[in-house]
Amino acid sequence: MSARIPLTRPTVDEATIAGVADVLRSGWLTSGPQVKAFETALSEFFGGRPVRAFNSGTCTMAIALRIAGIGAGDEVITTPLSWVATSNVVLEVGATPKFVDIDASTRNIDLNLIEAAITAKTRALLPVDLAGLPVDRTRLYAIARKHQLRVVEDAAQSLGSLWQGKRIGSFGDFVSVSFHPNKNATSIEGGCLVLNDEREAKLAEQYRLQGVVRSGYDGMEVELAGGKFNLTDVAARVGLGQLAHLDEFNAQRRELVRRYFALLSDPAMKIGLGLPPADFSNSNWHMFQVVLPEARLNVRRAQIMAELDAAGIGTGVHYPAIHLFALYRRLGWKAGDFPIAEQVCRNILSLPLFPAMSPADVERVVDTLLSILAAHRK
Ligand SMILES: Cc1ncc(COP(=O)(O)O)c(C=O)c1O
Repeated sequence: MSARIPLTRPTVDEATIAGVADVLRSGWLTSGPQVKAFETALSEFFGGRPVRAFNSGTCTMAIALRIAGIGAGDEVITTPLSWVATSNVVLEVGATPKFVDIDASTRNIDLNLIEAAITAKTRALLPVDLAGLPVDRTRLYAIARKHQLRVVEDAAQSLGSLWQGKRIGSFGDFVSVSFHPNKNATSIEGGCLVLNDEREAKLAEQYRLQGVVRSGYDGMEVELAGGKFNLTDVAARVGLGQLAHLDEFNAQRRELVRRYFALLSDPAMKIGLGLPPADFSNSNWHMFQVVLPEARLNVRRAQIMAELDAAGIGTGVHYPAIHLFALYRRLGWKAGDFPIAEQVCRNILSLPLFPAMSPADVERVVDTLLSILAAHRK
């Protein structure tokens, strides 16, 4: 049997592995010179804006909301189709998420529906670039300006994506990125937050580590109840090694996606399989996701995934609809609230995509998927 094709797999080069060994031998393992170097490289990547590194791309969003002064009594508009981190952080700071349905084509928040969801309590927009496809930044910021709202861009998945030729993160308000191992560049776990100015950067540092502010040799003050969200130097060294390859990784992803489109476009049309927009100018192609034609199949998604798994092909669900999780149902949301997101979330399927994959792997995934779908046609 052929080798298994996982859903994703990070590529870590030998220079990074040796660099990690150097850090481990250096005598300094937690946040130190590697974190500083990682932040400098990230700031350069994001056009010179202030950037701080953290131990996840979740705490970055909560901290952005805290810096913006968002808390109890405030509302934050977001999408029901994301990793649950996106709305959990809104609850974590004591505010209320207000979900808005998605656009069936982009699978991102439907910008046409945002203004109707804005109330006197709305303080921020929290959009997500699902699979790396950027939300229309021109329209997003026009709405934010008109209603005087802060924006926390959940760019966890869109490192290296562009909007009208400009890198995501190089402009805009708060931009939050994740370096989880599935992402286009990883620091094992980790994240970064792009900020607007040094005042916000100082606050981010305080929220990152117990609210501590140091001065001189022995001066220490605590000004707010920060947490413990700092990145280790080991992780930062991995992140630095990955950032150096990001453009190449993203180019490899793009070529593999071209192959997916070449093989899938015609059959998808015939069998009603949903493909993402064929965007080769903005997206970093973090994921390649199809939407199964549930009305034409006699089995559910789980069965298709099980059969792909048995054929040695890994797949994933990104994501179940957030508002239908028990926690969110208890807060009042219910089935039928966001019909487009619910239909997409029931049927969305992430296919294997990672830089070390080969075009032949893509062919095997497509052949296997199409034959499984044909066997289950109603
Ligand atoms: C859209 C989205 N938001 C937030 C996160 C949270 O990032 P992390 O896992 O680094 O906390 C992730 C990744 O897992 C994500 O995909």
